[in-house]
Amino acid sequence: MCGIVGYTGRAQAAPILLYGLERLEYRGYDSAGITVNSGTLQTVKASGRLANLAALTNNGADLHGNCGIGHTRWATHGEPTDNNAHPHVASSGQISIVHNGIIENYRKLKDWLLARGVAFQSETDTEVVSQLIDYYYEGDLLAAVRKAIYKLEGSYALGIVAADAPDTIIAVRKDSPLIAAVTDGEAFIASDVTAIIKYCREVIYLDDNTIAVITPGNITCYNKYGKVQDLTPVTIDWDIEAAQKGGYAHFMLKEINEQPKVLRDTLAGRIVADAAGARVDLSDAGLTPEVLQAVRKVHIVGCGSAYHAGVVAKYQLEGFARIPCEVTLASEFRYSSPVVLPGTLCVVISQSGETSDSIAALREAKALGVSTLAVVNVRGSTIAREADYILYTNAGPEIAVATSKAYSAQVAAMTLLAVALAEFNSGAKRENLQAVLNDLIKLPDLEEQILSDISLVQLAASRYFNHSSVFFIGRGLDYAAALEASLKLKEISYIHSEAYAGGELKHGTISLIEPGTLVIAVAACTKLAEKIESNIKEVKTRGAEVLTITTSSLSKNFTDCGDILIEIPDTHELLTPLLTALPLQLFAYYTALNNGCDIDKPRNLAKSVTVE
Ligand code: G6P
Repeated sequence: MCGIVGYTGRAQAAPILLYGLERLEYRGYDSAGITVNSGTLQTVKASGRLANLAALTNNGADLHGNCGIGHTRWATHGEPTDNNAHPHVASSGQISIVHNGIIENYRKLKDWLLARGVAFQSETDTEVVSQLIDYYYEGDLLAAVRKAIYKLEGSYALGIVAADAPDTIIAVRKDSPLIAAVTDGEAFIASDVTAIIKYCREVIYLDDNTIAVITPGNITCYNKYGKVQDLTPVTIDWDIEAAQKGGYAHFMLKEINEQPKVLRDTLAGRIVADAAGARVDLSDAGLTPEVLQAVRKVHIVGCGSAYHAGVVAKYQLEGFARIPCEVTLASEFRYSSPVVLPGTLCVVISQSGETSDSIAALREAKALGVSTLAVVNVRGSTIAREADYILYTNAGPEIAVATSKAYSAQVAAMTLLAVALAEFNSGAKRENLQAVLNDLIKLPDLEEQILSDISLVQLAASRYFNHSSVFFIGRGLDYAAALEASLKLKEISYIHSEAYAGGELKHGTISLIEPGTLVIAVAACTKLAEKIESNIKEVKTRGAEVLTITTSSLSKNFTDCGDILIEIPDTHELLTPLLTALPLQLFAYYTALNNGCDIDKPRNLAKSVTVE
């Protein structure tokens, strides 16, 4: 989604803005632009990749001035043309703005301004904001911004500059992420930390409805009543190297390979030993035994891969912890009049903590009066701040648009929740808990083992990369894993793929199987091995080529029914999605690589979906 960066200080602004925009590229965009303010506003915009903007500005060297704003746009209102790119400069040439979000009442406001003689240059909702601020501007930028935002409906993070205030940026936030940071003699705004971590480690997460006045070395924040707010900075505990490729060809490959470390970080301090053995301790999330004992049902919401992590968790929570669990897409939850009974723990899973639909679902759950738990990666994000309890996934910065390590950290965190609920809520037998925890502790080593030899995955990707349609099948937890595997493949390789519960094949999908169709079977669940074996035979008989992912001890069941068989090491059944994920992510990666796709920045997709 759109990315914002702003700088004011003693250095030339343009190179800092271009650098920040490059760091925000991963969020997904289709055009970019910057305004540098030197008493006059110099604005350059270009559709396509950031390299076009860099070329037009001689890498920023052609624009002189110490204050400016920049933007990467992910088109919503109006095509991704130069003209629709941000910043949007008002007709007077005095005001320039960048915006993330959607102005829902822009038509009404546009008509209102048109009736007052304002001429528009673009098809965007955003231009309404620059023209409106300009309309109210009488030399006091803050006053004009206040008047303008009073009229806005929708979501917005805004960076605003005025020609006659050449060292000032005004930042505004409502339902769209925005951070600010100050160093000696300089100040920044950005959509997220990656854009500015090179310059500062302490950042302020602006609250909703905050207006911040940013000048060199100073930030003053006001709440919606105009009262000065004292916002506490958050210290970022990772450095710039964590957000760089570190020798890997792509961020996605790096992030897949980081999973053993991430798993160790997600588990760290949360599995403790007492006289009776290991147990889960989620007190860092506020989930004390008393809180867990009060849970009667879990209702999980999320989007994309986070939703799939929720589907894995449903099987774990119901199968192992024996707690009723429902999983709903966050975009459906908010409009489905959900029946959420007392005693429900609503769990919002989100890597970014800024997904618009997930934020709305969280607020809906809170309005319904139930407890909420955020399973979130980004510290200080909106979902983390608004939920009652926060279980951080500790995956570190994830840059590739298609998630890998953040997804598996979500699965690991939810596994801990399932084990904790099994102990404190359902009174599961200690030996059953031990069996899971003993294997969970060993899991990072098993992940390393899988990652140390990926030749079969590479072989499969080189054999199948030119298929135009792929079907994933699985049962139980393997079905949940298949949902995510299918999404991964289609996201980055643009190959059509669908995931089906194996038992559903005969109810329709099997009509699509013909000689040469690729079917990928996830078969790691012992109790369902014979069932999925039958499903594999059904498609094989009809000419399908089958790639099977199974465990070492189940592999003998599948030697005569698959074309390529990839084994993962044996582990507790509850944990298999954490291992099957690795070859499935790598298959998607190498298939996309063989197809020459832009793996880290797939077309049309955004890392963080901050609009509805
Ligand atoms: C986007 C990303 C997905 C992600 C989903 C939810 O679609 O491309 O990788 O799973 O949003 O994002 P969240 O930050 O809420 O986990």
